[in-house]
Amino acid sequence: MILITGGAGFIGGNFVLDWLADPTAESVVNLDKLTYAGNLATLEALEGDPRHTFVRGDIGDQQLVTDSLKTHQPRAIVHFAAESHVDRSIHGPAEFVHTNIVGTFNLLECARTYWNALDESKKAGFRFHHVSTDEVYGSLSASDPAFTETHPYEPNSPYSASKAASDHLVRAWFHTYGLPVITSNCSNNYGPYHFPEKLIPLVILNALGNKPLPIYGDGQQVRDWLYVGDHCAAIREVLAKGKLGETYNIGGWNEKTNIDVVKTICTILDELRPRADGKSYAEQITFVKDRPGHDRRYAIDASKLKRELGWRPAETFDTGIRKTVRWYLDNPAWVEGIVSGSYRDWLQKQYS
Ligand code: NAD
Ligand code: DAU
Repeated sequence: MILITGGAGFIGGNFVLDWLADPTAESVVNLDKLTYAGNLATLEALEGDPRHTFVRGDIGDQQLVTDSLKTHQPRAIVHFAAESHVDRSIHGPAEFVHTNIVGTFNLLECARTYWNALDESKKAGFRFHHVSTDEVYGSLSASDPAFTETHPYEPNSPYSASKAASDHLVRAWFHTYGLPVITSNCSNNYGPYHFPEKLIPLVILNALGNKPLPIYGDGQQVRDWLYVGDHCAAIREVLAKGKLGETYNIGGWNEKTNIDVVKTICTILDELRPRADGKSYAEQITFVKDRPGHDRRYAIDASKLKRELGWRPAETFDTGIRKTVRWYLDNPAWVEGIVSGSYRDWLQKQYS
């Protein structure tokens, strides 16, 4: 049995589905608050599967987390739950402090109490895997080398500052209390079930809805894109073979400017679902006001993971983005479940 937090979100949901796709895999307890970003439709394929237990709740709820650990006796916790959207953290940072910092603190404390009471062999096998981000390292210039695990922490947004704080707590719980933790810092993910507040799904859906494709600033910011299935595979490797107390950078070796990403999506849509008027979706590209504190470039050096654990991503950006666009075209029911709800209020607040 493993306990996942945030398993109804984008990456957590993909992780649970990938994990349970293996018929021999251990069961999963999935603890998720179901915020706007949590979506049980992502987990529909697991309905009736006794290996998946869903618990709705907040990682900051001490009683609930303690009871869940006591009842299910997991041999590992994989901690995805977070407020994850930079733009939302600019509008309202309080939830980011609540979940990403205080929530992670509570989870660590509950895990420590649980782990201390385990017998010696279970204690030795226990893992607390903390899922974090490359944004904690701050911003790179065009000529800087990619982030390694020893790059200083220089977070620039309320989101990345809250994730940085959580990484420091996790590190301290290892050094002070011996809790067997591992942290992974990952670059931008994309793929199925991605909530369409984020660039790639937003652009796919806006293009199909005949809406503007908003590019912040000059569109020359660089992100290092990783297909979500590759991220899930990397986490499984780190969970199985990673060294305690270590951090591992996970990246796609796929640096792209935002404008190039958006143009690539337009080209794929032009081929798969041409516009009725025969023009390119690129006509919908619109440059808008920049994000405050917008980091210019992220790039991950994932060579430690390759060297020590033999992992590298299976998808290139070209193969992954094509799969992703197709997935959104093939899954209108999942999309409809999101765009009909409070998502509309967010679009109004951010882009009007
Ligand atoms: P997401 O926003 O899609 O999902 C977050 C999930 O956490 C949701 O299901 C939500 O309901 C749940 N949640 C939020 N607050 C909670 C709380 N207090 N208690 C319990 N559950 C709560 O996020 P994501 O994109 O899947 O990111 C998952 C993790 O990966 C996050 O920790 C994020 O910082 C990290 N990360 C994301 C990316 C990316 O590109 N998306 C890249 C690197 C790291
Ligand atoms: O780097 C990892 C991080 O990637 C994760 O930790 C975060 O949880 C995740 O949300 C993501 O953060 P970004 O801010 O990089 O992702 P987002 O999709 O919001 O934006 C990607 C880039 O596109 C960024 O430079 C901002 C830009 N952008 C975004 C939106 C939503 C636009 O130009 N227009 C937009 O409308």
